[in-house]
Amino acid sequence: MDRPRVGELSPPDRLLMGPGPSDVHPRVLRSMSTPLVGHLDPSFVEIMDDVQELLRYVFRTDNQWTIPVSGTGSASMEAAVANLTEPGDTVLVPGNGYFGERMAAMVERAGGEAVFVEAPWGDPLDPAAVEAAFDRHQPDIFGFVHAETSTGTLQPNVPELTSIAHEHDALVIADTVTSLGGVELRVDEWGIDVAYSADQKCLSCPPGASPLTLNDRAMDKVLARETPVRSWYLDLSLLQEYWGDERAYHHTAPITNVYALREALRLVAEEGIENRWARHRRVAGALKAGVDAMGLALNPEEDWWLPSLNAVRLPAGVDDGTVIDALLEEYGIEIAGGLGDLSGEILRIGCMGHSARPENVLALVSALGNTLEALDADVDADAGASAARRALKR
Ligand SMILES: Cc1ncc(COP(=O)(O)O)c(C=O)c1O
Repeated sequence: MDRPRVGELSPPDRLLMGPGPSDVHPRVLRSMSTPLVGHLDPSFVEIMDDVQELLRYVFRTDNQWTIPVSGTGSASMEAAVANLTEPGDTVLVPGNGYFGERMAAMVERAGGEAVFVEAPWGDPLDPAAVEAAFDRHQPDIFGFVHAETSTGTLQPNVPELTSIAHEHDALVIADTVTSLGGVELRVDEWGIDVAYSADQKCLSCPPGASPLTLNDRAMDKVLARETPVRSWYLDLSLLQEYWGDERAYHHTAPITNVYALREALRLVAEEGIENRWARHRRVAGALKAGVDAMGLALNPEEDWWLPSLNAVRLPAGVDDGTVIDALLEEYGIEIAGGLGDLSGEILRIGCMGHSARPENVLALVSALGNTLEALDADVDADAGASAARRALKR
C-alpha cells in the first residue's frame, strides 16, 4: 500500500456562531500548546484542584463532587443519568426538545423507565404540568434542560420546578450545557442536585472535558447503589478515587483539555460570572434587536429567550440550508438550522463565550440581512444592521 500523502492541517478561518462549539479564546489555545505532564504528576494534581475550585465558582455551588468528565457533554450527561438511575427507577424527562429525548434514551439504557412532561417544542416546562406528571408517575428523578439548544428556549422558574421534585422526594438533574458560563445559573440556590454541562459552548473550550456537579444527597444515592453502574468508564464511585482525596489512577485524564478548561475558567473568574451573564444578554440583545428590526421573529417568547442560542424563524419560502451555506461560504460564519419539530423552520444562532462579542454580532446581522435580501426575502437588512449597532451603544 502506498504511503498516504495527506497535506498539512489548515482549517479555514471561521466565526463560530452556531449551537457550539464557539470560538476559542487565544489564551485557551495557548494553554493547549504547553508541555504535557503526567495525569498523576503532583503539578497536575494542583491543576485538578484549581479546575474544581473554578468550576464550583461557575456553577455557583459548594458541592465537593464537582469535576470535568472526560469526553463531550454527552459523557457528563450520561455520567449524571447512568449513575443516578438504578434499574427500575422512573425518571421524568422534558418533552420540549431534542435533548430531553436523549436523556430518555440514556435512562432506558441505564435500566430505568423514562416518562415525559409534555410540552411543545419551543416552550418551557410549565410547573403545573410537572406537578401533574409527578402525581401521575411518582418518579424517582426529574431531569430538565435549562437551556434547550434545539429550540433556543430558556427554562424559567427553576426553583419552582426543583421544589416540586423535592416535595415528592425526587432528585433533580439539570442539563446546563448551553447555560453554564453564559446565562444565570445558581445550582445551590435553585435546589439543583446534579448539573452537567459541556465546555465548548459558553466556556469556549475545544470539546473534551465536561463539567459535572453533584450534591451530597445525589452522591449518597450513587454510592448506595445496589447494582453497579453499567458503564465502567463513567462510574462515579470509581472516578471519585481519581478526583477525590486518593488521586488514584482510574483512566488517563485528557490533560490538554483540562489545561484548556482551567484557562477558560480563569477567564470567567477574571470577568466575574455576573458580568459574563450580563455581557451575553447585552451582546445577544443586540443580535435580537437586529433580527427584529430586519423583520424576522425569534421563535421563543420574550420571557424564555435564551441569549446563548437565538432561534430565529425563517421568512416564508426561504430554505434554511441555502442561508446556512451562503453564510459559511461567503462570510465564513457558521450558524445552524432547526432540529426535530423545528427542522426547516428556524435558524439557530449562537452567542456564546468568546464568540459573544459586539463585532461578531454586527458581522452576523449584516451578513444575514444581505444573504436574505439576495434571496428576495421580505427583510430590511439596513434596518437590522443599524438596530444592532444602536443596541450596542446603549
Ligand atoms: C442541551 C444539550 N445537552 C447535551 C448536549 C450534548 O453535548 P455534546 O454534543 O458535547 O456531546 C448538547 C450538545 O449540543 C446540548 O446542546
